[in-house]
Amino acid sequence: MKQIQWDLAILSHEGIARDTFRLKLAAPMLEEMPKPGTFFNLTVPDQRFLLKRPISVFAVDHARKEISFIYKIMGEGTKALSDLRAGDTIRVIGPLGNGFPIQDDAHKVLLIGGGVGVPPLYELGCRLKEAGKEVITVLGFRDQSSVFCEAEFRSLGQTVICTDDGSYGFHGLVTQAIEEHGIEFDVLYACGPRLMLKAVDLKYRDHKTGYLSFEERMACGIGACYGCMTETREGLKRVCKDGPVFRLGEAVYHD
Ligand SMILES: Cc1cc2nc3c(=O)[nH]c(=O)nc-3n(C[C@H](O)[C@H](O)[C@H](O)COP(=O)(O)OP(=O)(O)OC[C@H]3O[C@@H](n4cnc5c(N)ncnc54)[C@H](O)[C@@H]3O)c2cc1C
Ligand code: FES
Repeated sequence: MKQIQWDLAILSHEGIARDTFRLKLAAPMLEEMPKPGTFFNLTVPDQRFLLKRPISVFAVDHARKEISFIYKIMGEGTKALSDLRAGDTIRVIGPLGNGFPIQDDAHKVLLIGGGVGVPPLYELGCRLKEAGKEVITVLGFRDQSSVFCEAEFRSLGQTVICTDDGSYGFHGLVTQAIEEHGIEFDVLYACGPRLMLKAVDLKYRDHKTGYLSFEERMACGIGACYGCMTETREGLKRVCKDGPVFRLGEAVYHD
C-alpha cells in the first residue's frame, strides 16, 4: 500500500486498562490490509507537538474498512491523544515500516509481547491463525491493572499472561514463563521493551528463527532524519524504514 497522509474519522476511543486506550478509525482509503507489524504516525492534537507519535496497527477490519490502535499514555503526547473523542478527525501517515513476514514452513508459532509491544502481535496472530498455524502467546505486563486484550489473544490459542509483581497470572518474566510452561515452537515473533527483546534474542538466536519489532524513539518516522538508527550485524539501520522488524540475531546490543 502506498504510504500517504490521511485525515481519518474517529469511530470510537475507549479506555481498556490503566492509561491504555483503544482507538478505532474509519479508513475508507484502505485498498489492501496494512501488514501486521507496520505502524502509523499519529498527529497529536496540540500544536506544541511537532512530531507525530508512531503507533502500531492493532487490528484491521478490511470489510468495514476500519483500523484499530492500542496505545498507553507514556508522556504528554499520548496524553493529548487521549483527549480525542469519537467524531473527531485525526491526521495520520502510514502504513509505515516493513512489518512481520509470515513464514510458510513454520507450523507452531510463539508470540511474545511486553507492555506497549503487545498491540502489533494481535493482527499478526489473526493472520497466522487464518493461515492454519498453531498460535501460542506469552504476554508480560507490569501488574493486573495493566493487562489488556487477554480474551482476544485467548481466541487465537494458548495464552499465558505474566505480571512483574505477580498480581495476575504467572509471576515473572516472559522468558521464564516460556520455560516453565515447556512451550515448544518453530518460529517466534516478539515486540516489547528493549531489555525483553534482548533477553529473547540472546536466548534463541543460535537455534531458532524469529522476528523482533523494535519500538525505538523516532522523529520523522519516514526514513528521512536518521534519528532512529540501531546497530545491526550489517551496520547501522533506520528502525522506522528498515524495521521496525528485524530478524532474530540481527541486532547488536551494547547495553
Ligand atoms: C514503531 C513503533 C510502534 C509503536 N507502537 C506502539 C503501540 O502500538 N502502542 C503504544 O502504546 N506505543 C507504541 N509505541 C511507543 C509510542 O510511540 C511512544 O510511547 C509515544 O511516542 C510516546 O509519546 P509521548 O509524547 O506520550 O511520550 P514522550 O514524552 O515522548 O516520552 C515519555 C516517556 O516514554 C519514553 N518513550 C517515548 N517513546 C518511546 C519508545 N518508542 N520506546 C520506549 N520508550 C519511549 C520516553 O523516553 C519518556 O521516558 C510505538 C513506537 C514505535 C517506534
Ligand atoms: S525517525 Fe527519522 S529516519 Fe527514522
